[in-house]
Amino acid sequence: MRKIIIANWKMHYGPMKAGAWMRVFRRERLPKDIDIGIAIPHVSLAAARSSIGRASVPLVGAQNVFWQNEGAFTGETSPAMLKEFEVAFCLVGHSERRFFLGETDEMVAKKASALQKTGIQPIICVGENATEHKKGEALKVVKRQLLSAVKGLKGDGETAPLIAYEPIWAISTGKQASPCSPHDAKNMHEWIREILEKKFGKAGKNIRILYGGSVDPHNVADYLSTSHIDGALVGNASLDPQAFGLLCRSAVTA
Ligand code: PGA
Repeated sequence: MRKIIIANWKMHYGPMKAGAWMRVFRRERLPKDIDIGIAIPHVSLAAARSSIGRASVPLVGAQNVFWQNEGAFTGETSPAMLKEFEVAFCLVGHSERRFFLGETDEMVAKKASALQKTGIQPIICVGENATEHKKGEALKVVKRQLLSAVKGLKGDGETAPLIAYEPIWAISTGKQASPCSPHDAKNMHEWIREILEKKFGKAGKNIRILYGGSVDPHNVADYLSTSHIDGALVGNASLDPQAFGLLCRSAVTA
């Protein structure tokens, strides 16, 4: 399966800085045999897109969306609006949105389905928090989040979902090594694969499952060379365009 690395800038970089990031990143030597995408704040999509020019790498993505295409939903951005920016994918259900914005499984499911209907690939983020992890509830939590999010989706075609497993206790641990080892992540990924195959049959075999949580240029190869890990969702280590370029190159030694 072709691997994929997605940068998640989170709430960093307005239009000016996003444009500058892209102009530096464009000069990076990038591997051809993996997909690379950047999840960009809505307000910076236009600037980022124009700085990429006609290049097909990186793929442009968004970090959030609403589930209706138009209407009285003050402050929201619709899938149709994202489509105008030629957004290829959009994150949904990131743990920070679930935590700070109160996004529920039901909202995540509606967003994922609306994206697919508009021709945008949803990247569904799932993952347990530290307490759930300690209590041994990780599988239960991830299964609930996943089954709810994929309920109304089709599993194949250009808008087939991607899944990002992000154990919340392993996100942004700074300079420390990720507490979720490739081996730990692999166990969860295998379990997610089983759920996907049950739900989508053969198509479930081809859905890419990304790991996210303190991935950096030093450990990316360890994750990506582990079976059942088809890519990475990268927060902190994507903020510097040259470091992210290095991360992408390091990934292919996997
Ligand atoms: P991190 O963030 O790489 O900084 O841990 C990952 C994420 O939250 O998507």
